[in-house]
Amino acid sequence: MSTAQFIPKTVTNSIEKANYTWKTPSNIALVKYWGKSNPQIPKNASISFTLNNCHTITTINFSKKAASGNIQFEIFFEGKQKEEFKPKIADFFERIQEYCPYLLDYSMVITSENSFPHSSGIASSASGMSAIAMCLMSFEQALSSEEMTSDFINKKASFLARLGSGSASRSIEGPLVVWGKHPEIEGSSDLFGVPFPYQIHSVFENYQDTILLVDKGEKQVSSTVGHNLMHQHPYAEQRFLQANENLSKLSAILQNGDVKSFVALVESEALTLHAMMLTSNPYFILMKPNTLEIINKIWNFRAENNSAICFTLDAGANVHVLYPEEEKEKISQFIDNELSKYCQKNHYICDNTGFGAKSTDL
Ligand code: DP6
Repeated sequence: MSTAQFIPKTVTNSIEKANYTWKTPSNIALVKYWGKSNPQIPKNASISFTLNNCHTITTINFSKKAASGNIQFEIFFEGKQKEEFKPKIADFFERIQEYCPYLLDYSMVITSENSFPHSSGIASSASGMSAIAMCLMSFEQALSSEEMTSDFINKKASFLARLGSGSASRSIEGPLVVWGKHPEIEGSSDLFGVPFPYQIHSVFENYQDTILLVDKGEKQVSSTVGHNLMHQHPYAEQRFLQANENLSKLSAILQNGDVKSFVALVESEALTLHAMMLTSNPYFILMKPNTLEIINKIWNFRAENNSAICFTLDAGANVHVLYPEEEKEKISQFIDNELSKYCQKNHYICDNTGFGAKSTDL
């Protein structure tokens, strides 16, 4: 599948002013994306649960300019103008200009807010970039004289979001999204995320994710730097092969409901991601002592209660505690009684799997 399909061809309608609002969620990877080549092509396929409560709401106001020219925009985050957010978004617009040439004719005011605290250590690039991408697609549809299918809108939104942040390509749909070409996942692509195309076992429906906020601070090493360190990494090639094999295994697990194998695979992925960080040059550690305390408590609880509780990590110290809905009551108590003390100010966020982007324009 080529990128040419994402260059708009149809005659455009004339619009002076328009605004669109989208709410898009964050996601948590089960098989991790860590390593990429230009332009935002992943070195291996990844899969994530789309979240439900952790989201970004973004409105873009478009106003026609007197003359076409450079891309112009302002950004407001939680009520305040944010100059520091501009460079990343300017790069993003630059990268997608070819696919959204109409942006040159408009100035944009972007207003955004997150449902999770800004300083929670939860990456907002997935929900943030996917929300912008959905607003752009609503505008593109309004400009276009042809009706676009929702399948095309989602694909192109994911394609655009990927060019902003790789993991954002997995935040358009849900509850499980694969990004990266994989021989066993029909329709999968390096260019955009696709919903996991097979029936999932009921145990994985409405899966729970309680995010333990171990460290709310800014990360010392950004994901972008971490991805780059995979270029010279001695274990990189083996890791990319392993991730693709893990996705094959996880695909079967998600269909057959083997939660024991799910637990083993998901935890191994999380620790392997951090092992890549530990063995990068320069090396770095994003886990904190409390991350390890929590992991050990989860292992003890699982052994003592014959539970399917497990953890995963993203590129930070926070722990995502994953478990089936049927264990919600017991595990909520365990988290509150035994794990919340390892969180900054005892803070954690209860989430579960969700279905992706929602328009709030009614
Ligand atoms: C560890 O998507 O944040 O969360 O493409 O450079 O924006 P960029 O990176 P990003 O990387 C996410 C890495 C991860 C694993 C994952 O979500 O698959």
